[in-house]
Amino acid sequence: MDLLFSHAIVRTPGPDAGGGLTTASLGRPDIPLLLAQHAAYIEILRALGLEVTVLPPLPGCPDAYFVEDAAVMTPEVAVITRPGAPSRRGEIESIESVLAKMRPVARIEAPGTLDGGDVLRVENRFYIGRSERTNDSGAGQLGRILEKNGYEWRVVPVGSGLHLKSSVNTLGGRDLVFAAGTPFLDAFEGCRSIVLDPGDDYAANALWINGTLLVPFGFPEARWKIEQLSRPVIDVAMTEMRKMDGGLTCLSLRF
Ligand code: GLY
Repeated sequence: MDLLFSHAIVRTPGPDAGGGLTTASLGRPDIPLLLAQHAAYIEILRALGLEVTVLPPLPGCPDAYFVEDAAVMTPEVAVITRPGAPSRRGEIESIESVLAKMRPVARIEAPGTLDGGDVLRVENRFYIGRSERTNDSGAGQLGRILEKNGYEWRVVPVGSGLHLKSSVNTLGGRDLVFAAGTPFLDAFEGCRSIVLDPGDDYAANALWINGTLLVPFGFPEARWKIEQLSRPVIDVAMTEMRKMDGGLTCLSLRF
């Protein structure tokens, strides 16, 4: 059974949003357009029935609007991460002050590193990507916290791409979408896989919200494959966030 979401937390990008980390070679984001795309994303979440808490920009932390990386939420606990990129560690104090009002808090401690973008829930199991941002210690710490709360967990080596969720996401239940050539498909045995065409990797960062699927605009083949599940699909303009390695999932914490 999928957990239904009632809330989301997002953060407005700051004027320095073009100064964050990125591996994309797509140029600098147009900040007014980025803000408009971000605002449209929020409106989609609201239209899908979520109560959205919008946090203000965090000065000095240009990646802070990728809020998903700073925490992992379950109904029982808010796990504050220790982002793998040192430049993002300044984000956690602010997110902890918000989430501590909603859940008991647990923390990933040094030497562990963990980005929420490496954490994918599929029913009662969490897949934790070991990546350039998430190390064995961070993955193990999170796994043990989740286990105490009744969840299964499994570590998946992420060969390429920024995060686990750069390559695989849930489309509801055990239906998953993968980027072409994802090396770790075997880790997801028992799941149904939609594998996208080469060149459509960015669309593997699709977002399930209570039965509706958000997909980045501009990938018609990927959209067609995802539509075969007969669930409502919404296109979301993401061109400016993509320039900063941002995707649909990392723009919000959903719970
Ligand atoms: N710009 C998102 C990240 O690299 O963490």
